[in-house]
Amino acid sequence: MDFSRLDTPFYLYDTDLLRQTLRQLTAAADRHGNIHIHYAVKANANPKVLRVIRESGIGIDCVSGGEIQAALDAGFPASSIVFAGVGKSDREIRLGLHHDIFCFNVESIPELEVINELAGEMGRTANVCLRINPNVDAHTHANITTGLAENKFGIALEDMERLIALARQLDHIRWRGLHFHVGSQITDMSVFSTLSDRINEIQDRLDAAGLHMDIINVGGGLGIDYDDPAGHPIPDFDAYFAAYAQHLRLRKGQEVHVELGRSIVGQCGSLITRVLYVKQGAVKQFAICDAGMTDLIRPALYDAHHHIDNITATGAVLLSDAPAAVGRMERYDVVGPICESSDVFDKDVLLPVVRRGDILALRSAGAYGEIMASRYNCRPFALPYTTDELRKEC
Ligand code: LLP
Repeated sequence: MDFSRLDTPFYLYDTDLLRQTLRQLTAAADRHGNIHIHYAVKANANPKVLRVIRESGIGIDCVSGGEIQAALDAGFPASSIVFAGVGKSDREIRLGLHHDIFCFNVESIPELEVINELAGEMGRTANVCLRINPNVDAHTHANITTGLAENKFGIALEDMERLIALARQLDHIRWRGLHFHVGSQITDMSVFSTLSDRINEIQDRLDAAGLHMDIINVGGGLGIDYDDPAGHPIPDFDAYFAAYAQHLRLRKGQEVHVELGRSIVGQCGSLITRVLYVKQGAVKQFAICDAGMTDLIRPALYDAHHHIDNITATGAVLLSDAPAAVGRMERYDVVGPICESSDVFDKDVLLPVVRRGDILALRSAGAYGEIMASRYNCRPFALPYTTDELRKEC
């Protein structure tokens, strides 16, 4: 694939890998029973990516009116949309009600009351799951932990029965079940087993109170291998579903819903950047790129590691391409052009000797890359391309 005529930086989405990932995901879900998958669109809302995901037939998880609109525009049926978030505005709730979305994941009493009131005004009934904060530690970065008692998300366990009772009293609310989400980039499957155990205790409590639910939504959070993306381009969906299948004690007729984002799109995206300068500092050697934290903020925001390849040297554009033998290696701090000291992609990275004009690929940028981009320093947004498009054109 020759993309020498394209302006850098740009996002490159490997749509073959995405399709393969979706096939493995849906096959694994089918092996483990009654599982409904919703793609967490917050990870990547690029219309070209959404089109491929929609073709796989899975549903969608939204956290704003903008995401609901993006999902509808991409052709996802409203009946596959779940809508979460601690701060849903009246306008966003009305949008969801207007399209009769599958379910609102509700996070507080005032929100429940507002949905009831707006649904009443519109002559609708809202399907609702209550998001419970299960106080389970996700063993991940603090900034992407959501299921601890101290986090702003969900309803405290102590308030659960009171809220269910309220939801069942309200005329325009249909209580369908419970929703959980304990965090993101979770690589330790025991977190999902612990969450299952907690859900089992909760179900026992609800049984004792004579409350039956149809839906258990366990959220998302399955992590990807940022250190060795070529070695693990597709996450182990079987191990993920097995953690729930083996631990969750379902009652008759119950549906399990999951909301996966990163694990679906993460490995299919690379941020492609050109090296502008190689600079010898007092103690460091810098490879200064034309992409910066405005295009991929994860290293600056979460200390996240993204694997970097010098694809001019290796010739391996995609994760599936075999790299050519490379000569001498040197260490570089790979940095962007933004006026911030945190604009560093990685430090002391060992790379095949880098020269001005070389093209680097920052891997695993398909999730929370393009969607978190900013225009800081008045930079234009990097453009997205898919391998489907480039194969046709280049
Ligand atoms: N469901 C809910 C309620 C969520 O809050 C999230 C992510 C997901 C599903 C999808 O989680 P995933 O499967 O992608 O882990 N910007 C951060 C990640 C923030 C995740 C927020 N919530 C990052 O770049 O690591």
